Amino acid sequence: MKNKILVTGGAGYIGSHTCIALHQAGYEIVVYDNLSNSSREAVNRVASLIGQPIDFVEGDIRDTDLLRQVFSDNQFFGVIHFAGLKAVGESVAKPLMYYNNNVSGTISLLEVMAEYDVKNLVFSSSATVYGDPEVLPIDESSPRSCTNPYGQSKLTVEHILEDLAVSDESWNLIPLRYFNPVGAHPSGQIGEDPNDIPNNLMPYISQVAVGKLSKLSIFGNDYPTIDGTGVRDFIHVTDLAQGHVAALDYLLSYLEQQTSIEEHSSNKKSSIGFLPINLGTGTGTSVLELVTAFSKVSEQDIPYQFVSRRAGDIASCYASADKARDLLNWQAKLSISDMCQDTWRWQKMNPNGYNLA
Ligand code: NAD
Ligand code: UFG
Repeated sequence: MKNKILVTGGAGYIGSHTCIALHQAGYEIVVYDNLSNSSREAVNRVASLIGQPIDFVEGDIRDTDLLRQVFSDNQFFGVIHFAGLKAVGESVAKPLMYYNNNVSGTISLLEVMAEYDVKNLVFSSSATVYGDPEVLPIDESSPRSCTNPYGQSKLTVEHILEDLAVSDESWNLIPLRYFNPVGAHPSGQIGEDPNDIPNNLMPYISQVAVGKLSKLSIFGNDYPTIDGTGVRDFIHVTDLAQGHVAALDYLLSYLEQQTSIEEHSSNKKSSIGFLPINLGTGTGTSVLELVTAFSKVSEQDIPYQFVSRRAGDIASCYASADKARDLLNWQAKLSISDMCQDTWRWQKMNPNGYNLA
C-alpha cells in the first residue's frame, strides 16, 4: 500500500468512482460521508468491485470531533475532498445551506487537517468558477467569477486555499476544476443517481431513453454554436477519477524530489502551494450532438423539444487540458460514445438507481 487517503464525499457519484481508481493505484482509503446525497449501497458496491471491505465513516465534515477521531485513528498522507452540495438551483433558493455546507464544512476540515499536520489536499472545484469565459478553450489563468451561490461557494473555497498557501508554505493544495462529468463505471454497478427529476443533461437524456421521462427539453437553440445548442466539455467519470490519482501521484513524487534536494543541499524543501488544474477533455460537444450520440448507442428514440434558454447558462465551455497533460501526465481517454454506452448500461441495470425497493 502506497499511502492512506481520506476521501470526504466518497459515497457520491465522483467519489465512488475515484475510490476504485485509488484502490487500483495502490492507495489505502477511508471514506467519510454523511450520506446526505448518496447511499450506503454505493459504498457496498464499491467494496464488491474492489473485492474488499471499505473503511467507511458516516459523518459530517462540520463535525470536528468526529473528524479529529478519524485523524487520530489513521495516519493520512492527504485528503481528497469531494463532500459538498452541488445543485445550482437549490443553492439559489438556500444560499445559507450551501455556504454552511461547502464553505464552513471545508474550513472545519482544513482546521482538523492543520491540527494533525496533514497538509496535502485535492479539492473538487468546478469549471463554474470561470463564469462566462471570454476565451476558449479555458485555461487555469482565465479570470474567475460566479453568478450563483453554488459557484460562489467553490470560488470562496479556492480563495481560502490561496490564502492558506500564502500563510503557511507547508500546504499542498490542488483544486481540480471539473468540466462536465458524465458516464458510469463500465461494470454498470455504480453511476450517477440523481434525486427526483435530473437537472443535468446526461441523466435526463438517459431517463428519457429508458422511458422514465417522456421528452427532453433543450434549453435554447439560438446560441452562437455549431447547431445553436449549448456546448460543454463532457468528461467520463472514470477518466476524472484517474485525474485524482494522477494529482496524488504527482504530489507524492514532487515531495519525494524535494526531500532528496533537502538531503543533498542546504536548499529548503518547498511545497506546491495552490495549484489549480482543469480536468476536461479539451473538446466541446453540443447538446444536440450528445442526444444524437446517446440515441445511436442506446438504439432508442430520444424525443426532444426546444424551449427558451435556462437562466444562468452560458453558450460554450470547454477546457484547455494542457496543464493536466504536462504536469500530471494525465489525459482523458474515453469518447462521447463510451460516455453514452456506460451511462446507458448503468441506467438499464439500475432503473431506480441505488434504491433497491
Ligand atoms: P455527489 O452529491 O454525488 O457527492 C457528494 C457527496 O458528499 C455525497 O455523497 C454527499 O452525501 C456528501 N456530502 C455532502 N455534504 C457533506 C457533508 N457536510 N459532510 C459529509 N459528506 C457530505 O456529487 P458529485 O457529483 O460526486 O460531486 C462531488 C464534488 O465535485 C462536489 O463537491 C461537487 O460540487 C463537485 N463537482 C461536481 C460536478 C458535477 O457535475 N457532478 C462538477 C463540478 C464539481
Ligand atoms: N440542458 C438542456 N436540457 C436539460 C439539461 C441541460 O438542454 O434538461 C443543457 C444546458 O442548457 C447546457 C447543457 O445541457 O447547455 C449542460 O447542462 P448541465 O446542467 O448538464 O451542466 P452545466 O454545464 O449547466 O453545469 C454542470 C454542473 C455544474 C458545474 C458545471 C461545470 O451542473 O455544477 O457543469 O462543471 F459547475
